[in-house]
Amino acid sequence: MEFFLDTADVTEVEALLPTGLIDGITTNPTLIAKSGRKWKEVVKEMCALVDGPISVEVAALDYETMIKEGRALAAINEKIAVKVPLTPAGLRVCKELSDDDHMVNVTLCFSPLQALLTAKAGATFVSPFVGRLDDIGINGMDLIKDIQEIYENYPNLCTNVLAASIRHPQHVLEAAKAGADVITLPPKIMRQLYQHPLTDLGIEAFVNDWASTGQTIL
Ligand code: E4P
Repeated sequence: MEFFLDTADVTEVEALLPTGLIDGITTNPTLIAKSGRKWKEVVKEMCALVDGPISVEVAALDYETMIKEGRALAAINEKIAVKVPLTPAGLRVCKELSDDDHMVNVTLCFSPLQALLTAKAGATFVSPFVGRLDDIGINGMDLIKDIQEIYENYPNLCTNVLAASIRHPQHVLEAAKAGADVITLPPKIMRQLYQHPLTDLGIEAFVNDWASTGQTIL
């Protein structure tokens, strides 16, 4: 399973890259707005830092503008996965950019049939939003499982399932068990994955016991 960071905060990317566990980045208009920065500066800095796909979302909703925006984003760096909404115009743009060998991430996926259309449009990634379905009382993880089942029926489909809208570590566990190819994690959740109270207690005991021996390793 690949781990992407779901953030437009370059400082967080710099802080977490040394873990060696980050395979890419996803951003969206909300995250860019939250950063308070110019999108192009953020994207260029991310491209210089990260070896892996960096999703950057188009702003337009109509096909004519969206395809121009998509091509402009793709031209910035080959690491960029152009993020388009799951609409007829978005999937049309997805098909064209994918046919031209650009990476495309189709976002705002809330149904298995939307994911089937996305794969037929040749997307590199489909982003099912787990947390936002949970928010309205629908089990978001069932969507990941349904998409996996459909994609496995058709091995010629090559779209990667990118579990998005992740709210807590349990989502990560369930997405991994469901076989999601990628998960995009808010930095806070990435840090939570390391934590267990028994690890902390164990370290405390080992540190104290080692100190009592009076020995050193170096
Ligand atoms: C990532 O690609 C999505 O835009 C993001 O995970 C959405 O998360 P949210 O539902 O917490 O805004």
